[in-house]
Amino acid sequence: MFEYKNVLIVGSGGREHALGWKISKNKNIKKIFYANGNGGTYNNVQIPPNEIEKLLNFAKENKCFTIVGPEIPLSLGIVDLFNLYDVPIFGPTKNASMLETSKKYSKNFMKQNLIPTAEFQTFSDSSKAVDYIHKIDHDAVIKADGLASGKGVYVTTSKQEAVTAIDLLLNAKKFGTSSQNIIIEKRIIGEEVSIIAICDGKSFLILEPCRDHKRIFNDDKGPNTGGMGSYSPVPGIKEEEIHQISKKVFEPTIRGMIDNGNPFKGFLYAGLIIEKETRKPYVLEFNVRMGDPECQSLMMRMESDLFEYIKSTEQQSIDSIKPIEWKKRHSVCVIMASKGYPDNYEKGHIVKGIDSVDRGEDLMLFHSGTKKNSMNEIVTDGGRVFGVTSLGNTLKEAITKSYKNVEKIKLGDNQQYYRTDIAQKVLFT
Ligand code: GLY
Repeated sequence: MFEYKNVLIVGSGGREHALGWKISKNKNIKKIFYANGNGGTYNNVQIPPNEIEKLLNFAKENKCFTIVGPEIPLSLGIVDLFNLYDVPIFGPTKNASMLETSKKYSKNFMKQNLIPTAEFQTFSDSSKAVDYIHKIDHDAVIKADGLASGKGVYVTTSKQEAVTAIDLLLNAKKFGTSSQNIIIEKRIIGEEVSIIAICDGKSFLILEPCRDHKRIFNDDKGPNTGGMGSYSPVPGIKEEEIHQISKKVFEPTIRGMIDNGNPFKGFLYAGLIIEKETRKPYVLEFNVRMGDPECQSLMMRMESDLFEYIKSTEQQSIDSIKPIEWKKRHSVCVIMASKGYPDNYEKGHIVKGIDSVDRGEDLMLFHSGTKKNSMNEIVTDGGRVFGVTSLGNTLKEAITKSYKNVEKIKLGDNQQYYRTDIAQKVLFT
């Protein structure tokens, strides 16, 4: 029996920083390692997330329970490998990860299991895809089949935009093999919400609703990114609607995965849209991991000990553990990105002003694309750089606190970019 006393978090983003911060509150865990971590995390281990054998050896030698942040190691079978050696790990197997790694698989799974999702067709031939666009009488969402860091989805509002997206994905192969197949689905108009569950293979527990802002520019304009901000809870989403999502989405998904021989353990993230007219939920996508930046907002609000819940999945006892407690407060995460993201951006800019950021339980500066240089200064090292995340008694208070602190930080010579409308649309509706 493998005895652990430490935790290894695989990944280097804001999600991983937030997970580690939350898990550090568990008094039984001695040390938290990050592979590779970032400029804001300690005990960083220089093993990239795709080197899964090295991660296994590290976890064994350092008596770690491993929690996987990003999808890449999951898609490479990190969980299957750890399971082979009975080394504890939280995440889905390679096959179960297909809910995220192949949109084609995921959409067919939803269809088979009567999980509500927009009608769709899959294509690998661009001329057939373009013919289809000219036949349909609704707007289309065009998606790369494989992994694309959240950037492979094009929400189009005209036939011309749809044809351009098809050309980029299938002909220009923007995401290589990830876009050799595409999905074209009907665009549904409504309110988006992210619901994430902790799953133990046979049951699940859903977390509070959260919403992220995927587009790069204010007013949800411009290309998709990994996420430019998030907030929780989500005003306007009713408890009854969450209950429906649990019954109509999570229950059949967990059951369907058991039926096809791939029971799902790990964080299961349903990106949903509640249709404006009918208030019916539709699944836009499944992710097989925590959301980023949803994680930052959720961890700030979670009162309970996250690790107790993760640990309970080892005994498949998530259905008998007490409900998760949440702070009755609002959290808002504003992502500060490098200018140019999600396309080309520079790295290596020295970050100024972080010492003047308010710190404490109400304000966390979660690092993503940062590292320390040889002088121990924090420098930019990625597209999304910080998630400035705050708690407030009202949504407005949380927004104000986050932005007050965002304004204190400079990436090099004004190389920062952030949206100025995170969480604000719901304030005025
Ligand atoms: N926030 C979107 C994602 O994590 O995929």
